[in-house]
Amino acid sequence: MALTITPPTTHPETEQPRLSLARIPVSATLAANETLDARRRRGEPVLPLAFGEAGLPAHRILRAALAQAAGCNSYGPVAGHAALRQAAAGYWARRGLLTDAEAVISGPGSKALLFGLMAAIGGDVAVTRPSWVSYAAQAALSGRKAHFVPGSGGVPDADQLAKAVTAARAAGNPVRSVIVTLPDNPTGLLAPAAAVRDLCSVAEAHDLVIISDEIYRDLVHDPDAPFASPAVMSPERTVITTGLSKNLALGGWRLGVARLPAGGFGRDLRDRLLGIGSEIWSAPAGPVQQAAALAFSEPPEVAGRVALSRRLHGSVARAVARTFVAAGAAVPAPQAAFYLYPDFSPLADVLLGRHGITSDEGLAGMLLHTYGVGVLPGSAFGEESGRLRLRVATAMLYGDTEDQRHVALNSSDPCSLPWIAGSLARLEEVLADLTG
Ligand SMILES: Cc1ncc(COP(=O)(O)O)c(C=O)c1O
Repeated sequence: MALTITPPTTHPETEQPRLSLARIPVSATLAANETLDARRRRGEPVLPLAFGEAGLPAHRILRAALAQAAGCNSYGPVAGHAALRQAAAGYWARRGLLTDAEAVISGPGSKALLFGLMAAIGGDVAVTRPSWVSYAAQAALSGRKAHFVPGSGGVPDADQLAKAVTAARAAGNPVRSVIVTLPDNPTGLLAPAAAVRDLCSVAEAHDLVIISDEIYRDLVHDPDAPFASPAVMSPERTVITTGLSKNLALGGWRLGVARLPAGGFGRDLRDRLLGIGSEIWSAPAGPVQQAAALAFSEPPEVAGRVALSRRLHGSVARAVARTFVAAGAAVPAPQAAFYLYPDFSPLADVLLGRHGITSDEGLAGMLLHTYGVGVLPGSAFGEESGRLRLRVATAMLYGDTEDQRHVALNSSDPCSLPWIAGSLARLEEVLADLTG
């Protein structure tokens, strides 16, 4: 097996004539947020189910660590401070992945690291259909192609991946990597070990680098559920990315980390990623790195916070899923994070007959503009048009104030709190009206 890095390819069809700009659409989430804000200002009811934000306050001890590190104002090393890299290595070691701190690179969010990794590895990328919006968008931004391969729980079906890679290469598009999301956004599902094992076999047979986005790993609702990382099965070709945005709700702090494989390929990739980081972000914010080092060392308060968040996400996601099921949609039981992925195809006749709706965009548009319910259409995640799937994010239901969110976090029955119960009742009412 010869893991190598190829120079980036360009695609003539994406090259723009001089003095013109490639179209980069404004995110569907932001557009939905603007509509919801306008309704709020008019005093109309809204249900914010579009935004994939973790919806919880920053933990007290992390705020204190951040404030205390305010004087940390030098750029520092591109890979991140040694304390942060060591803490992240310890985080992975506690999950059964022995990690050398040298193999850890931090960046301003895992999103930036994913973009850097795609550029560093070169070639096209295979992604799951459906998968997180930004993989394909980032590939397009850097002149690459994202090849969508049907799959489930964030992992492409192995046979279809092998066929897609072979066909793309034969057509002159060298696919060099595959991205998996464990557990998954948009579906809230966790792929079983067998699917990950099959994926690793195909990656080895076709010499693909595996990028394993494990940003939701700590938010699997059942903490005892087995978790299979491709980094265990294919250690020499797997990069893991994670961060603090989801498990500790610190999205705005912008801190992510990548764990590069050991060995020659991992070292080459590290050098390339550092080169890219040095030219784009230099280093993540110094004070944030200090607080992140504390977070990755997982003192009991932090581990306890993640456990409470996991319980809250699970309770509310399951309750919202039950509401969609009661209205007639098909919903795989959510297993992780704060997402679910209802499929309205059992209601296709009703939606067509009553409202003339034939697409997920039409359905999401009607929910937004008629009822003030913000959700995202499955097509934003690479779903083929004509499917009636929606991505529903549930973590913005925890409250409008920090106090409400703290109460929700500490409640053993959050769905009975008046503001969450009210949102569930409103959703039930909307779906009843929509489906008759
Ligand atoms: C699957 C997935 N990966 C990565 C990210 C980005 O995380 P970060 O805040 O670390 O850039 C998100 C955020 O929505 C996500 O859903």
